[in-house]
Amino acid sequence: MRDYVRRVGENHRKSRGQYFTPPDVAGFMTSWVLRSGGTSLFDPAFGLGAFHDAVPHDARVDFSACEIDPGIVEFRERTTGRRAGFVTVDDYLRSWGGRHSNIVCNPPYMRFQKFVNRAMVRREFRRRLGVNLSGYTNTASAFLLKSLSELRAPGRMAYLMPLEFLNTGYGTPVKAALTDSGHLFAILRFDCEKDIFPDAATSVGVILFDNAVRHASVKFYAVRSLTQLARFDEMAPVSDVPVAALDARAKWLPWFQPRACEADPARMTVLSTFGRFSRGIATGANEFFVLRPSTARARGLDAYADCVPCITRSVQIRKPIFDAADYHALSDADHPVLLFSANGAPSRDAAVYIRSGERRGFHERFLTKTRTPWYRTERREPSPLLFGVFSRGRYKVVFNTSRALTLTCFHGFQPNPLGRRYAAHLFLYLASQTGRDIMSRSMRRYGALLDKVEPNDVNGSPVPSPDFFATIREERVAEAMTVVNGTGRLPSWAEALFAPVKIPDKKKEEEP
Ligand SMILES: C[S@@+](CC[C@H](N)C(=O)[O-])C[C@H]1O[C@@H](n2cnc3c(N)ncnc32)[C@H](O)[C@@H]1O
Repeated sequence: MRDYVRRVGENHRKSRGQYFTPPDVAGFMTSWVLRSGGTSLFDPAFGLGAFHDAVPHDARVDFSACEIDPGIVEFRERTTGRRAGFVTVDDYLRSWGGRHSNIVCNPPYMRFQKFVNRAMVRREFRRRLGVNLSGYTNTASAFLLKSLSELRAPGRMAYLMPLEFLNTGYGTPVKAALTDSGHLFAILRFDCEKDIFPDAATSVGVILFDNAVRHASVKFYAVRSLTQLARFDEMAPVSDVPVAALDARAKWLPWFQPRACEADPARMTVLSTFGRFSRGIATGANEFFVLRPSTARARGLDAYADCVPCITRSVQIRKPIFDAADYHALSDADHPVLLFSANGAPSRDAAVYIRSGERRGFHERFLTKTRTPWYRTERREPSPLLFGVFSRGRYKVVFNTSRALTLTCFHGFQPNPLGRRYAAHLFLYLASQTGRDIMSRSMRRYGALLDKVEPNDVNGSPVPSPDFFATIREERVAEAMTVVNGTGRLPSWAEALFAPVKIPDKKKEEEP
């Protein structure tokens, strides 16, 4: 494999999504599929033949495959000295009409936007499968959908997949196709992904689909080591979810988390019941719009008339409760916490500043170009709750009583009347360990360390219902806020307020 990469170069490899399956994983997938008892096996993305090589020598298996890159097949033939006549050199996404008894695959992973023939492929998916592929989808999801439609009954299929589709909108038709027939057996997630797939940017796992059996539930496994994989039959799933409870539009990655942080649906609603988080202000030219008070003064700009208070970097907020005094402390220390905002008629000094910006070309930037006039930034109201966009393990949530707006480092909450009523309750919940455990189940996972949170991840997350919040006395909330303000932490009695929203251990044990 290293010889191959050295020979063709990284660009050739990456542009075709050529990432190779480690032998242990290929062995596991191949043997699981062949347990169907079928004697044929099809690989739609052959590469260097990891799955072909994983078929036991004594097994009588009729192997066939597809591969778009003739070069990689020739390389294999040359280096093994064996012909690979069973491989059809073709674009799998454009060759229709095949039916296969067993399928095993590690599909190429490329954003669909980068896929050359995407218009034609989308048309064919619509026509033949009745599926509208989202522009955000990727080749791996398209491969999986197509293979599902080609699998004969009874037959088995194992697909190695980047698992982000389980949590994103473009994955909805894929999840629907997986569950509609009732043949989805299990989804495995590799928690040891960095050892197995050092290049992987998202979590990776295996979809196991069995056309011979109707499954009443789907098992979600978290695989921590390759040794565990070798003894898969002895492994207990993290969750075993009734098919009826698997909504294709919902996020599925949370099913890989231990159930200790499962929320009691009777006491919960979604956060959007209370309002919505949306991203902070994108200026398109922070060098122009973001100012220190000293710079504003030097330019003759008035901090109140020509600018608005604004948090421009996540590190500027270090406490869970941020108030006017905290903002003034930043401003007094000359931190860049002003946003140039000439949204009415610019003052004389503001007009001079705008012209200086034009001389420096800021009006020609990607975002500023689309605005009229180019220096008018988005109008926003200060948000009572802020949610950090990036986090490493622990997300940042802030109760904001200052008038400061925020740039894109925070998502800001625009409450509805219910949200205004319960803003402090929501904050305490989001800051509590119970809230963190439950919220982390619905966050998208981008990689092993860094979480990027999109506004809709938060908006769709479970939070206690207004009825539940109404059971917490106002004085308790006020008291908890005072403690958090003083110590930066939720006291244990305040943590306990939210304990009832978790499914109690006893109830968990009684469940099937
Ligand atoms: C992720 S690699 C997997 C290779 C091999 N099966 C393995 O598991 O190690 C995907 C392979 O699919 C090939 N490929 C990319 N686009 C394809 C397409 N549209 N049709 C068929 N093969 C394709 C790539 O050249 C690459 O060899």
